Amino acid sequence: MDLKTKKEVRKYILHKRDLLDTNTKKEWDDQIFKKLVNSEFYKNAGTIFTFVSFGSEVDTHRFINYALKDEKIICVPKILSKERGIEVFKINSLKDLEPGHYGILEPKEHCHKINSEDIDLILMPGLAFDREGGRIGYGAGYYDKFLMKMRKKVKKIALAYDFQLFCRVSTDELDVKIDGIITNKEIVIFDI
Ligand SMILES: Nc1ncnc2c1ncn2[C@@H]1O[C@H](COP(=O)(O)OP(=O)(O)O)[C@@H](O)[C@H]1O
Ligand SMILES: [Mg+2]
Repeated sequence: MDLKTKKEVRKYILHKRDLLDTNTKKEWDDQIFKKLVNSEFYKNAGTIFTFVSFGSEVDTHRFINYALKDEKIICVPKILSKERGIEVFKINSLKDLEPGHYGILEPKEHCHKINSEDIDLILMPGLAFDREGGRIGYGAGYYDKFLMKMRKKVKKIALAYDFQLFCRVSTDELDVKIDGIITNKEIVIFDI
């Protein structure tokens, strides 16, 4: 059977995720949060680059607050433009965020840029993932472009609901592989 195109998968998953009822989402977010903060890769990381959840994405606001209290250095992306891609800025609080591109919360002007070589762990957003490290994002390739420029080898862990994880999804040579995924059901670290 042919794999569905990225575009088809994005539409299907986004729709399905947007339809999650509030209580189920809360329960699954809680399960993912607990798996994350109890993981060795969280405990061993000093500086964490995380997406700031938007819409029906797995919640990261609770995680950001927790990690800041836990004295982790937290940095988040800011979209500069389609051509210039994303850059990463340190935040000290959720109050350092304001709505930016697409309405996603982004670091305010006063935040300091982080050198990508200082990052120890990356928490990745996305729509669909597979057990070989494949990832389908929203279709702008921002993370692929950012990660391609990174020289340091850093663990890239996706946060997603179980229905976003497949055996195989369509990818191409520009898609940077992720190292693992945390869902409401499991933590999987890929053997890649
Ligand atoms: N490292 C890169 N350099 C230049 N273009 C890239 C790079 N990575 C991805 N792209 C381009 O960005 C666009 C979106 O990538 P795609 O993988 O479809 O999106 P997403 O990763 O958000 O799902 C594609 O046209 C892809 O070829
Ligand atoms: Mg991609």
